[in-house]
Formats: sequence, C-alpha cells, structure tokens
Amino acid sequence: MKGKMNLDEYFRRIGFHGSYSKLDLATLKLIHKQHVMSLPFENLSVHCGDKITMDLEVIYDKIVRNSRGGCCLENNSLFGWVLREMGYDTVTLGARVDIDGCGSTDNHLVNKVVIDGKSYIADVSYGMSFQVREPLELVSGKDQPQAAGIFRLIDQGDVWVLEKTSRKPKLVNPEFNKLNLVNRDETKEIYRFSLTPVEVDHFFEICHFLQTDPNSLFINKSICSLQTPTGFRGLIGWTYSEVTYKPEEGIDVIDIRDISDDEIDQTLKEKFNIKLQNKLQPVNNKTCFTI
Ligand SMILES: CC(C)(COP(=O)(O)OP(=O)(O)OC[C@H]1O[C@@H](n2cnc3c(N)ncnc32)[C@H](O)[C@@H]1OP(=O)(O)O)[C@@H](O)C(=O)NCCC(=O)NCCS
Repeated sequence: MKGKMNLDEYFRRIGFHGSYSKLDLATLKLIHKQHVMSLPFENLSVHCGDKITMDLEVIYDKIVRNSRGGCCLENNSLFGWVLREMGYDTVTLGARVDIDGCGSTDNHLVNKVVIDGKSYIADVSYGMSFQVREPLELVSGKDQPQAAGIFRLIDQGDVWVLEKTSRKPKLVNPEFNKLNLVNRDETKEIYRFSLTPVEVDHFFEICHFLQTDPNSLFINKSICSLQTPTGFRGLIGWTYSEVTYKPEEGIDVIDIRDISDDEIDQTLKEKFNIKLQNKLQPVNNKTCFTI
C-alpha cells in the first residue's frame, strides 16, 4: 500500500529482530510487547502546536522516523497497518472509554486479530497503568494476568467490556496522596467495544474533538507514558512518575514528583526517548473530562 512506509524500518524502531515468516501468536505477542516498550502513548502534539491526524503516512513519519509516540488513534492505526502488511487477519474496532460518565461516542481504536480461528484484541496504546503488554484472548470472563494486573474481557451481548483488577498503589512520596491514588478502585472498567469492524473515517470526528473540545482529556492533560520491563513511566503535566510493579507483594510502588519547566525537554528525551520540534506547554487541569 503506502509506498513510503516500510515494515523493516518499523521493526528496527521497536527493536524486533526476529523472523515473521510464521504468522503465529508468539510473533504477535512479541511485536505487541516491543511496541509498547518502545513507542510511548502520548498526546503532546496537542500541547506543542501540532495536530493529531488519521493520515497513516503522517503517523508513520511521526512515530517511526521522528522519535515520537502517539495517542491510541495513531499507535493502533500504525499497528493495524503493520499487522495487515505482515499478513495477519486483522480488523479495526471502535471502543469507548467512559471517564466520569462523560463518554458517549467511540473514542478509542483497537485491532482484532484472528489466528487459527481464535480472536485476540491487540491494543498497543491505552497508556499508563491500563496498558496491556500482550494481546488479550477474546474469551468472556477469563482472568488474563499480565504485568500490570489481571485483565478480563466480558461479553455483555451487544458489547464487550475490558476491565482490570489492579494491585494497591504504594506511594514513595506520601504528599502525593492528594492525587487520590491510594483510593483507586481495585477493579475498573477500561473501555467497551463492539465486534463490528469499522473504517478509519469512523474516527475523524473524535480525532478533531479530542484536540479541540475544552472538556476533552487531551486538552486538559498533557500525557506521556512508556512501559518499562518493571512497570511504566508517566508524565502528566509537570508530574513525573515511575511505577514499579511488585506482584509478589501485591503492590505497585509509585515514585512521583513534580518537575520544573527546565527539566521537561530532558525528561522527555531521557525517559521517553521523545524529541519535540516545538516547545511543549504542559497542562494538568483537574476537571470532568471526556476522552
Ligand atoms: C490521566 C489519567 C491517569 C487520569 O485518570 P483518572 O481515573 O481520572 O484519575 P486517577 O484516579 O487515576 O488519578 C487521580 C489523579 O492522579 C493523577 N495521576 C494518576 N496517575 C498518575 C501518574 N502515574 N502520574 C501523574 N499523575 C497521575 C491523575 O491525573 C488525576 O489527577 P486529577 O485528580 O488532578 O485530575 C488516566 O485517564 C490515564 O491513565 N490516561 C492515560 C491513558 C488514556 O487516557 N488512554 C486513552 C486512550 S485514547
């Protein structure tokens, strides 16, 4: 399809050096994991005078060639293209994140992959603590333990719900209790989706909304997150966190602190491998937002 896009270049970007002659689950798991460990979930374009677009060539250039990550619409569109280029049986699905009851339209994009008659949900770009490392089996009610916690897909008839049971957060810096992190629900719905495949135009309106509506999460918080072998790193506004998963103790250790404007560029570079062309204006508003 798109002449300027190159699968090998993408594989180099995510550090995948294996063979992909076999279109099996093991290969899918591996590239999924490499993607989330290499390419950040971030909405920084909204906060440095750029635009998020659904144009695959623009997304490819941004993420694969220009040291950037992207939001779910970008990362998962790119990942869908990769899977199709490899030859996996893949369709795009629309999902709905319902934060504070405000969500009313599909605002998240995921991929469904079928291998040997079994279906899997691949999602390389939810970000932060709800990011799956590996695709999830599309099986109702089954506990699917991963590094971040226990994920579950539940068939509710016309929709499927993704939920996660988290471990208790333990803050290294107790003054950040004000963030309400310690009272987080143990089991929380992440999003819901239907299995009816959609095309890219399904997301044009929400893509515009996310970066322009005063109530949108993306307008109210600049977010960047990257999964690491032991947990994840996050930067929301000026608040930088390093989270270490301790499944054997049943906790996630959260080391969180505010950084100064002067530290932003260096943190993005050193902790997230991101280089921005324009200056970032961090934002962290507390509000009832839609995503
Ligand atoms: C930004 C986000 C953490 C807010 O979640 P929430 O459920 O509203 O709030 P939580 O109870 O988890 O956190 C409470 C507060 O702590 C902040 N917080 C939570 N985890 C944090 C972390 N690791 N680092 C810094 N701040 C954090 C939140 O921003 C929130 O701040 P606020 O009360 O000032 O608004 C959450 O929406 C998220 O993880 N977003 C990124 C992923 C995402 O939105 N993906 C969508 C795919 S398109």
